[in-house]
Amino acid sequence: MRFETKRLMLRPWEERDAESLYEYAKDPRVGPPAGWPPHTSVDDSREIIKNVLAVPETYAVCLKEDGRAIGSIGLKLGENSNLALPDGEGEIGYWIGVPFWGRGLIPEATRELIRHAFADLGLKTLWCGYFDGNEKSKRAQEKCGFIYHHTNKDVFWPLMGDIRTEHVTRLTREDWVNGFSVRPLTKEEVPAALALAWKVFTEYESPAYAPEGTEEFYKSIHDETYLAGIEYVGAFDGERLVGEIGYRPDRMHVCFFFVDGPYHRCGVGTRLWRRLREDCPGRAVTLNSSPYGLPFYKALGFSAADTEQTVNGIRFTPMVFDGE
Ligand SMILES: CC(C)(COP(=O)(O)OP(=O)(O)OC[C@H]1O[C@@H](n2cnc3c(N)ncnc32)[C@H](O)[C@@H]1OP(=O)(O)O)[C@@H](O)C(=O)NCCC(=O)NCCS
Repeated sequence: MRFETKRLMLRPWEERDAESLYEYAKDPRVGPPAGWPPHTSVDDSREIIKNVLAVPETYAVCLKEDGRAIGSIGLKLGENSNLALPDGEGEIGYWIGVPFWGRGLIPEATRELIRHAFADLGLKTLWCGYFDGNEKSKRAQEKCGFIYHHTNKDVFWPLMGDIRTEHVTRLTREDWVNGFSVRPLTKEEVPAALALAWKVFTEYESPAYAPEGTEEFYKSIHDETYLAGIEYVGAFDGERLVGEIGYRPDRMHVCFFFVDGPYHRCGVGTRLWRRLREDCPGRAVTLNSSPYGLPFYKALGFSAADTEQTVNGIRFTPMVFDGE
């Protein structure tokens, strides 16, 4: 498993990272504030890769430009975490080499791991922690939406052989999605919205249609006459467009409703819908649901206005939401 962000690559640790790891992990400003002693040699770093870092859900944080490991980020699940969490919850830990401090790289890596934890692994709650006085780590957690939860005083920390005070922060999946920006898209953002529509369509809708239906959809998202008059609301995780509604405001008809696959079942669709309702309180809304979308629209309160139909290879059920 590997992940890419704007500036970073997160990938599993390998023994050949030992030199790079030692370069940053020997610095006493890095390990002790995070709860582990500075590395003593390249061999020590290699052993730590083998015995500690080369485990599932721990990733080397690498700059994309040269692929060198400059830090580490990991997710510990359930009872394997330091906090002895229940199933469905996880704890994130991280560090980055001193020359890379102050560039927002750890928040960038953490946001991607948060996405992975909630959207790919289906976790419901994430935890993080920092030792008393580690203001930089506290700030990184705040930037990623973690909220102070409680303090563990006088904890014996075996790796360092000392007694510490640990502040614990929490991010629920609901808080995460509520932190997304949901807003109307500008004209310049429409091509990205149509690209997302095509990506999600080919993954989730096209398999249920005859090839003619896929062609029909492709034509519609390239047909300026069809697209004229459609307005869009988008949901953003940071700068990434992760979902959208395209609708005709004159008759409140939804033409597109797509959420990027890795974000399904996280509440993004529901947030987009609520945002649309703010602009049209009390008005009835219509749409033609794909087979895949049916349970979602039913959950929002839509009902079928007719039986399933097929036109030009597209299977759909006409649905209506009666204004509240
Ligand atoms: C349909 C779609 C927009 C829903 O977006 P989403 O962000 O996953 O929806 P939400 O997380 O807000 O789901 C809200 C509720 O809808 C229901 N729901 C959503 N997807 C479901 C599914 N695949 N199966 C069963 N129920 C589903 C659930 O009740 C869910 O609540 P829960 O997760 O707490 O049980 C998204 O799945 C998608 O883009 N699908 C592919 C394209 C598509 O079919 N679009 C509709 C075109 S008409």
